[in-house]
Amino acid sequence: MLDLFESQWLGGSVHLKNRIVMPPMTRTRTSDGDIPNALMATYYGQRATAGLIVAEVADVAPSSNGYARTPGIYNEAQVAGWRLVTDAVHRRGGTIFSQIWHVGRMAHPSLMPDGEAPWGVTEAQAVNSDVFAHDAEGKLGYMRAGKPRQLETQEVSALIGTFAQAFANARQAGFDGVELHAANGYLFEQFLNSVLNTRTDRYGGGTVENRTRFLLEAIDAAVRELGPGRVGVRLSPFGYFNSMPEDPQAEETLLFLAQELGRRGVAYMHIVYELMPVGNMESAEFKKMHVDHAVLARVRSAFPGKIIWCGGFVSREQAQEALDTGLVDLIAFGRPYIANPDLAERLRQGWPLAVADRSSYYTRRGELGFTDFPAYEADSAAA
Ligand code: PHB
Repeated sequence: MLDLFESQWLGGSVHLKNRIVMPPMTRTRTSDGDIPNALMATYYGQRATAGLIVAEVADVAPSSNGYARTPGIYNEAQVAGWRLVTDAVHRRGGTIFSQIWHVGRMAHPSLMPDGEAPWGVTEAQAVNSDVFAHDAEGKLGYMRAGKPRQLETQEVSALIGTFAQAFANARQAGFDGVELHAANGYLFEQFLNSVLNTRTDRYGGGTVENRTRFLLEAIDAAVRELGPGRVGVRLSPFGYFNSMPEDPQAEETLLFLAQELGRRGVAYMHIVYELMPVGNMESAEFKKMHVDHAVLARVRSAFPGKIIWCGGFVSREQAQEALDTGLVDLIAFGRPYIANPDLAERLRQGWPLAVADRSSYYTRRGELGFTDFPAYEADSAAA
């Protein structure tokens, strides 16, 4: 029986002290210029007893900003800011990866360089989904994603170079590895979806080789930069967040990817089983999806690396039940990490979990609802 608290080899020379993952969560506490800062270093340092932290998603380039105040990883100031974060985590013996994305069509002209149209796999707009952007008066709020412009073939290839630079930046910033965000309707997943991706070039949706090419080329760039044991990928097969159409080829794509990622020695597949059917991060409810164990068993046999499950886990019992399926190696606890910096210890000891107020998830109120959650004190609770 797998134990949530036993140490775990992830890949290459990366060892985790337990099977608990703090998955990426946007918290919008960056400094102006989308720069990580000392407050964020405190926050991540407080959570360093997780086996693996995957930091909140970072923009690969200025054209990738879909939510104002998410951090970037494309310039020197941002790399210096991330260095504070990785140092804080390493000082406390933790392991931290950088999650990197391009949002593709999930963007808005008000966030784009020179107000240009968002970058899309095609011109199809995410008509039911919101981004966090500026309105005509410059006020920040949720609004519909903009109408995208379809990327030229050479632009897609050029983006691989942009990702390669970001992976080099992540290494320079002291991250132990990188996770490519290929879930939740952002650019990589826009290519993977055979219904949305109606392109006919070498990145086109018609064949599984072509629709996975963009992601696998980016994976190859990450492996070249960091080594395969320091590369993971996040996927949300069968999800439909951000107006993703239902894809009859989803399973074929997933199994092909499992095989190709395995061939490359990639450390882990991080699978999201939760989504927001409609609305936005602030107002919509998260929903747990059905987990098809038969499909996951096929993924498991095709992929020799580790599998992480993420999707509404809130207790040790739920995590153990998932581990007992034999289909998964690591368990991600998202929202519980917001109010419980010492979550690993609380789960181990059976101590109660604090609950965060959702209104503080994405605010700019600095430490409030961010770094002000104390570790549990058994003595004071008993007194
Ligand atoms: C997502 O993965 O769906 C996601 C990531 C970052 C955000 C919002 C959504 O700010």
